[in-house]
Amino acid sequence: MQNMRLALRERPTGLLTDEHFDRIEEELSPLADGQARVRVVYVSLDPAMRGWVSPSTDSYVPPVPLGDTMRSLGIGVVEESKTDAYKAGDWVSGFTGWTRYLDVAPGQLNVVPQTVPMEAYMGVFGLAGATAYHGLVKTGEPKAGQTLCVTGAAGSVGSLVGQIGKALGLRVIGIAGTDEKCKWLVDDLGFDAALNYKTDDLEKGLREFAPEGLDLHFENVGGKPFAAALNNMKAFGRMVFCGFISVYNGERADEYPDLTALIRKRLTFKGFVMTDHFDEYPEIFAELGKLMQAGKLKYRLDIVDGLETAPAAFGKLFDGTNKGKLVVKVSDL
Ligand SMILES: NC(=O)c1ccc[n+]([C@@H]2O[C@H](COP(=O)([O-])OP(=O)(O)OC[C@H]3O[C@@H](n4cnc5c(N)ncnc54)[C@H](OP(=O)(O)O)[C@@H]3O)[C@@H](O)[C@H]2O)c1
Repeated sequence: MQNMRLALRERPTGLLTDEHFDRIEEELSPLADGQARVRVVYVSLDPAMRGWVSPSTDSYVPPVPLGDTMRSLGIGVVEESKTDAYKAGDWVSGFTGWTRYLDVAPGQLNVVPQTVPMEAYMGVFGLAGATAYHGLVKTGEPKAGQTLCVTGAAGSVGSLVGQIGKALGLRVIGIAGTDEKCKWLVDDLGFDAALNYKTDDLEKGLREFAPEGLDLHFENVGGKPFAAALNNMKAFGRMVFCGFISVYNGERADEYPDLTALIRKRLTFKGFVMTDHFDEYPEIFAELGKLMQAGKLKYRLDIVDGLETAPAAFGKLFDGTNKGKLVVKVSDL
């Protein structure tokens, strides 16, 4: 059986592109006892992957070694099994990597129920949903009636954060990069307001939305939107740090906020990484399932075709052309 995978050839200094990968075509050997062979259907493209290919060893995961298959989350179908842990036809998700096939040992990937469309495991019932829920509910500790601001608001995490916020009785404002995205947030997702960070006066917009200040802020991008939110926090407010995508390719932030506000306003700053909280996934997905059933949670996927397109498609996360959770379709279900 033929496989194709993308292996990291070189570490980028800026944007991750095709030239950083080798395309490896290989004949798979027969499946070993105790393993299962998985055909990958979708792989997830996540901003964090840019950090995983940097040489830095002081992050929450070690860098992807040069020559290894690119690390990524994904979901697939068991094609053949020589272990009781998996049976042919099971849907399995976890760290599949950028490959068409992989052989796994028991425990390496999780079997997931076939009760929702497979795509849902890439969005709401995947990293994005877990991150949005954990970050807002557990880290942000919101209370009904409070005001919430979220940046990267039209992205896969941000759009869920705002909707969960609305379901919890918060007033929500989102900051995103196009008028079309802002309109989607308000008209389709029920955000109370949205600002375009490229064209709107963020300071003014936030002041008008929350004249007494924001109770809670969820940060996904860094730079100017972060500075505007910090300047508009209420005393004793909470700021949740999920991501800083504006500097992942080595850029300097376009604005550095005045951190003395932390003291003046007695703010709480808290960062988190979801790899520390895998144990919460079942509880979180049960809560998200209830919100979905109640019609309070919508999500959209941006699906690109073919594993070979993954490096180029990754750039969509950084120029903002992804509309929803960005995934690559590797094979047909
Ligand atoms: N802490 C964790 O465990 C965890 C887990 C998952 C994700 N995250 C973080 O959450 C954030 C969102 O991830 P996601 O998967 O949901 O991606 P996403 O929001 O679906 O896609 C990325 C979006 O970021 C925006 N963006 C890109 N460059 C920007 C810049 N320079 N300034 C402002 N906005 C910019 C773009 O939207 P616009 O059109 O609005 O610019 C783009 O669509 C990322 O920072 C990611 O690292 C953290």
